[in-house]
Amino acid sequence: MNTRELQDRIIELKKKKNVCILAHAYQSQDIWEVADFIGDSFALSKKAAGAPEDTMVMAGVRFMAETCKILSPEKRVILANPTAGCPMAMEMDRDAVLEMQKEYPGYATVAYINTTADLKTAVDVVVTSSSAVKIIRALPDKNIIFIPDPNLGAWVQAQCPEKNFKFYNGGCPTHMRTGPSDVKRMKAAHPEALVLVHPECRPSVVELADYVGSTTGIMKYAEESSAREFIIGTEASIVQHLQFQCPDKKFYLLSENCVCYNMKMTTLVDVYNAVAGDGGEEIVLPEDVITRSRRPIDRMIQLGG
Ligand code: 13P
Ligand code: SF4
Repeated sequence: MNTRELQDRIIELKKKKNVCILAHAYQSQDIWEVADFIGDSFALSKKAAGAPEDTMVMAGVRFMAETCKILSPEKRVILANPTAGCPMAMEMDRDAVLEMQKEYPGYATVAYINTTADLKTAVDVVVTSSSAVKIIRALPDKNIIFIPDPNLGAWVQAQCPEKNFKFYNGGCPTHMRTGPSDVKRMKAAHPEALVLVHPECRPSVVELADYVGSTTGIMKYAEESSAREFIIGTEASIVQHLQFQCPDKKFYLLSENCVCYNMKMTTLVDVYNAVAGDGGEEIVLPEDVITRSRRPIDRMIQLGG
């Protein structure tokens, strides 16, 4: 069977079985083509809360499937490839959050969505890269514990100087493998190109960028810009998607190190098996974890708009 035939089978089967396929922007083009919805973490969360289908298949990483389950506990949520986890989400557990809260009493705890469901039970609000600034500005609290990504945290802090932040020493291994020397090297090779980066990159990279935003923010910016060339500082798949969407523009990856091996684990065959009911992992969370982690996620959706 070739890719097109497998895609046709998936499309037929998902209709028959009333399955919604959610794909994160970092998934491959063949998966994008069978997905009902593609987005960044915030858009996927909103979609998960409102999808009418009985079953949702997540082509992404584990925390995304968990978020789906928390927002739609009555539905079956299948993580297409059970080995796809986010290394950043594994950097901090609930106990480490409680430790920080003991160290900084009275601070509001803001967690990046790239965290486990269990950790989210201990926080006040969840944010994504595209909603963090808006949500933190809207919080009444001045003092903020921001976990686990200090790079995203530093970017938010620069836009919210009225707030006082404490950070955890975490971060995304994919984005942290880039540095300012990559920007300088790529700019020297492509002087006309604009530099678009994700806020999970180090501050020394972010400060050299022309635009900083979420995965879909970067894509929208590149599509709407009148510029013809772009250096992309996020996962390699975004370069591929942009090349499909804007064949007349040129896209260069900031560094060959911008590859998230976890996002690459899910294949079209995994999606097929998950839709067929013959693969993936059904996400099961304890009821109290669902109830207590839903509060900060609902708050994100409410404040993120
Ligand atoms: P966004 O989808 O919010 O841009 O996050 C990127 C990411 O690293 C997801 O794991
Ligand atoms: Fe996690 Fe980074 Fe991979 Fe996103 S790109 S899934 S934050 S390791």
